[in-house]
Amino acid sequence: MTDKLIIFDTTLRDGEQSPGASMTKDEKLRIARQLERLKVDVIEAGFAASSNGDFECVHAIASAIKDSTVCSLSRANDRDIARAAEALKPAARGRIHTFIATSALHMEKKLRMTPDEVFEQSKLAVRFARNQIDDVEFSAEDGYRSDVDFLCRVIEAVIKEGATTINVPDTVGYAIPELYGNFIKTLRERVPNSDKAIWSVHCHNDLGMAVANSLAGVKIGGARQIECTINGLGERAGNCSLEEVVMAVKTRKDYFGLDVGIDASHILAASRMVSQTTGFVVQPNKAVVGANAFAHASGIHQDGVLKARDTYEIMRAEDVGWSANKIVLGKLSGRNAFKQRLQELGVMLESEGEIMAAFAKFKDLADRKTEIFDEDILALVSDESVTAEKEQYGFISLSQHSETGEKPQAEVVFSVAGKEVRGTAEGNGPVDASLKAIESHVQSGAEMVLYSVNAISGSTESQGEVTVRLQNSGRVVNGMGADPDIIVASAKAYLSALNKLHSKAERVAAQG
Ligand code: KIV
Ligand code: ZN
Repeated sequence: MTDKLIIFDTTLRDGEQSPGASMTKDEKLRIARQLERLKVDVIEAGFAASSNGDFECVHAIASAIKDSTVCSLSRANDRDIARAAEALKPAARGRIHTFIATSALHMEKKLRMTPDEVFEQSKLAVRFARNQIDDVEFSAEDGYRSDVDFLCRVIEAVIKEGATTINVPDTVGYAIPELYGNFIKTLRERVPNSDKAIWSVHCHNDLGMAVANSLAGVKIGGARQIECTINGLGERAGNCSLEEVVMAVKTRKDYFGLDVGIDASHILAASRMVSQTTGFVVQPNKAVVGANAFAHASGIHQDGVLKARDTYEIMRAEDVGWSANKIVLGKLSGRNAFKQRLQELGVMLESEGEIMAAFAKFKDLADRKTEIFDEDILALVSDESVTAEKEQYGFISLSQHSETGEKPQAEVVFSVAGKEVRGTAEGNGPVDASLKAIESHVQSGAEMVLYSVNAISGSTESQGEVTVRLQNSGRVVNGMGADPDIIVASAKAYLSALNKLHSKAERVAAQG
């Protein structure tokens, strides 16, 4: 058995299935590039057959990514598999991931198929997929709740058909570490040709044990691939979190004895990028990437850490990308210093135009904010107006008046297809008035399903980072805005969400 643990990231597929986390093609491409920088082994880019939009995302990622394997999910039928193969054509290394449910409950109630039919379809699907591509993963959906004899029969058959990876998902997050680990072990012992494939774990977090279950699948069960997402993003309580599982294996190499190829120094940037893109805020006490993950508030801990770091620290903050809130740049910093800092933060802007746009925003921010932290720079480059080619709506300026006992009023000046317009409105508060002022002109009719404000670097001098989630005609989009003035940040976030609603790009549908 090899000592290499394969990290399979499914942020862009399973993560995106989380309601409200849908992403545009550009957003997915940026995240895929960050995953490549992280040296993720396999990037599950989407589910090509689920919509034209998702096909395009998989195709674009397959064209752009060179170092990681790019994978598309597909149901176990020829149409889905052919679509996945087509989307993966430009990939340097591509993988088709075909799945079918194997638990009695799913087969009977969801698929309305007999076990024999599922058995046959699994074989046919893997055979068809292997005719398209060499790297084929088979997943037994709801595998952990499946009958072990039936599952062994299916797995033996699909390995014979050429499946190179066998994934046993705990689809509903029902497993307990020891039981899940032993389940994988039993399967590997009982399937006669089990050594011909790599075994993979895919755990959901409904009972908060996705990371622990995945690690048990590796340690007890002998799996050598973990499927996970950045920040544990995913439906319901999410998936196994990449940063936690990777840092567990790295920090406790004494116990796991496995090599992971991940470059952990890019973890924080990846976490921030996913959080800013989806609007799913990272809780402060989240392991590895939470704002407090390396903060020592109590006097005893501070004293200990000052005397000897390892008294209370098992990992080094800088190893996962934290840079101790350094003041990195200021008003007088030039374009080269800015570009270099972006590179150090793992941010690669694609064109000179994007660098110029980001630098102009940086200068503007430096005029208004004396101290610029790494977090400010990351927020600034995740602002869509840096990367978006053409925007329908653009923020220009805002004025508002609020006074105790009076209804706040706002006037927002913004551009619509390059033409300056202004909207005015009253509201319950200054943010409400500002967004209503925009809406008074645009009349999108969209429903706001989420509004959140986050202080980027923790003090009142910090920039406010706002996420607005809008829903219209079945589409859900997230808009982000950052500014030292949270009312301006809110208006920018609202306009960014409107831009996404306006874009013709087909929304990516969740797994069917
Ligand atoms: O949770 C699950 O079962 C899945 C499969 C499609 C791999 O996401
Ligand atoms: Zn899943």
